[in-house]
Amino acid sequence: MAVDVKVICCIGAGYVGGPTMAVIADKCPHIEVNVVDLNKNRIDLWNNSDLSKLPIFEPGLKEVIKRCRGRNLHFSSLIEENIKRADMIFISVNTPIKTKGIGAGKASDLKWVEASARQISKFAKKETIVVEKSTLPVRTADTIQQILKESELNNKNKKFSVLSNPEFLAEGNAIKDLENPDRVLIGGVDEESINALKKIYLNWVDEEKILTTNLWSSELSKLVANAFLAQRISSINSISALCETTGADIKEVSLAIGMDSRLGSKFLAAGPGFGGSCFKKDILNLVYISEYYGLKEVASYWEQVVAINSWQNKRISKIILAKLFGTLAKKKIGILGFSFKANTNDTRESPAIRICKDLIEEGGSLYIYDPRVSLEQIESDLGLKNNYQGNLTGDLGNWSYCKKIIDTFEGADAVLVLTEWDQFKDLNWENLSKLMRHPSWVFDTRGIVDTVEAKSCGLNVWQVGNGE
Ligand code: NAD
Ligand code: UDX
Repeated sequence: MAVDVKVICCIGAGYVGGPTMAVIADKCPHIEVNVVDLNKNRIDLWNNSDLSKLPIFEPGLKEVIKRCRGRNLHFSSLIEENIKRADMIFISVNTPIKTKGIGAGKASDLKWVEASARQISKFAKKETIVVEKSTLPVRTADTIQQILKESELNNKNKKFSVLSNPEFLAEGNAIKDLENPDRVLIGGVDEESINALKKIYLNWVDEEKILTTNLWSSELSKLVANAFLAQRISSINSISALCETTGADIKEVSLAIGMDSRLGSKFLAAGPGFGGSCFKKDILNLVYISEYYGLKEVASYWEQVVAINSWQNKRISKIILAKLFGTLAKKKIGILGFSFKANTNDTRESPAIRICKDLIEEGGSLYIYDPRVSLEQIESDLGLKNNYQGNLTGDLGNWSYCKKIIDTFEGADAVLVLTEWDQFKDLNWENLSKLMRHPSWVFDTRGIVDTVEAKSCGLNVWQVGNGE
C-alpha cells in the first residue's frame, strides 16, 4: 500500500502516546501529528499553557512540547475528525490485566484496543496504515485485521495495512530513549507500509537500528523483552536476601557478575521489587499465552518471576516490623519516595503501595514525601484519606502527606527509602538524625544511603542485600 504519510493520528495520549508522538513531531516537522484521547481532562492538561501542568512528568518533555505544540503537534478530543484525516494511525491505548472473566489476573484486557480498531474501521475514509504501539498479546493483529476487513468490504476507498511497532521506552528516560533508541522494531506483511513507517524513523534513527520482522515476532518480542528484564530484577532480589543472611553485599555481587560481558552491568540493582505499569502485566500475559498453548512448564517458570517480586515487597515490610520490636502502633515512619522509580510521577504497581499498605495495616503512622507524586494520587493508591492533622492518633494506622523531606524525619522512629530520587542520595544524616526519636532506623530498599555515614550519626541502618 503506497501511502505518503503527511498526517498521523495517535489514539491514546498516555505515558507512551504523548511522549512518542511529541518526539515524532519534533523530528518530522513536515508531518502533522494529532494525538487524541477519550479522556478530556488529560487532553486539557496536554494543552495547558502552563507546561508544569502536563499530565506526565518526564525529563526533557516540556522542552519538546514547547517546540512542537501548536506547530505540527496537536492534542484533541476530536477522535472522528482526526482518524478521517490520518494516513497513519497509532493505537497507543492502555492494555491492563483483565480483572474478571476468562484469564482474569493474567490476560490482557483488549477492550480499548478493540474499541480503537472499531473507531478506525468506522471513521477512516481512505488507505490507512494502522500501527500497534500498545503492548499486545501475540496474534492481536489478527483481531484488528478482522475488524478492519469488514469495513474494507463495504467501502472500496478504504484499505488498511496493520503493522506492529512496540515501544521500548522506559519512563523517566522516555525522551532520551525515543531520541536515541537501542532499536526500532517494525513487524508487518506489506513492504510498502513497513517502508512508510521506516521512513518516519529514518529522520533521526540509523538504518541499522531499525529491525523489520513478521507481525508475530514483533508482538511477541515486546512481551519477551520485558519478561527478560524483569527476570533479572527478580533474580538479583532473590540473591539480596541471601546476601543479608550470609554477610555478602549485593552491590559487590552485582558488580562482580555484571562485569561478565555476557551478562552486562545494567538492570542488576536490587530493590523493593519492580513496579510500573508494564512488567507484571506483560509477564502475566506471557504466562497466560503459554497456558493457552498448553505450555504449563513455561507458564509456571515465568509466573515465578512475578511471585519473587511479591515476596520481595512482603519481605521488606516484615523486616521493618521485626526491627521495630514487632509493633508499629504509635510509631512514626517517614517514607521517602512513592513513585515506582525515580524521575516519573507514575505510581502504577509501585512497590511503595504494597509496602505502605502493609505498614498502615500494622498500625504505623506514615509520613510520605515524593517530589512528583500528588496527595490525591497517594490517597487513591492507598485507598485511604490523608490524615491532615498529621499526629499519632493511636493504634490505627494512618498516613500524612509531607511537602518537605524534613517533615518525614521530625520525631520519626524510622525512615524508609522506597524510590531512588537523587535528592535522597546526599541527605545530611547528622542533622536529620537529631530530629528523630531514638533508637531510630533507616531502611534503604534502593541501596543509595551511605550506611557508614548514617551509622556514624547514631542511626541503625538496614540496606537491601547488605549483609555486613
Ligand atoms: P495510559 O493509560 O497512560 O494511556 C492510555 C490512554 O489511552 C488513556 O489516556 C486512555 O484514556 C486512552 N484511551 C483508551 N481507549 C481509548 C479510545 N478508544 N480512544 C481514545 N483514547 C483511548 O497507558 P500507557 O502507559 O501510555 O500505555 C499504553 C500502552 O503502551 C500499553 O499497552 C502499555 O503496555 C504500552 N507500553 C507502556 C510503556 C510505559 O512505560 N508506560 C512502555 C512501553 C509500552
Ligand atoms: C519497562 C522497560 O524497561 C521498558 O523497556 C518497557 O518499554 C516498559 O517497561 P519502565 O516500567 O518504565 O520500563 O521502568 P524500568 O526502568 O524498566 O524499571 C522497572 C522496575 O524495575 C522499576 O520499579 C525499577 O525500580 C526496577 N528496577 C530496574 C530495579 O529494581 N533494578 C534495576 O536495576 C532496574
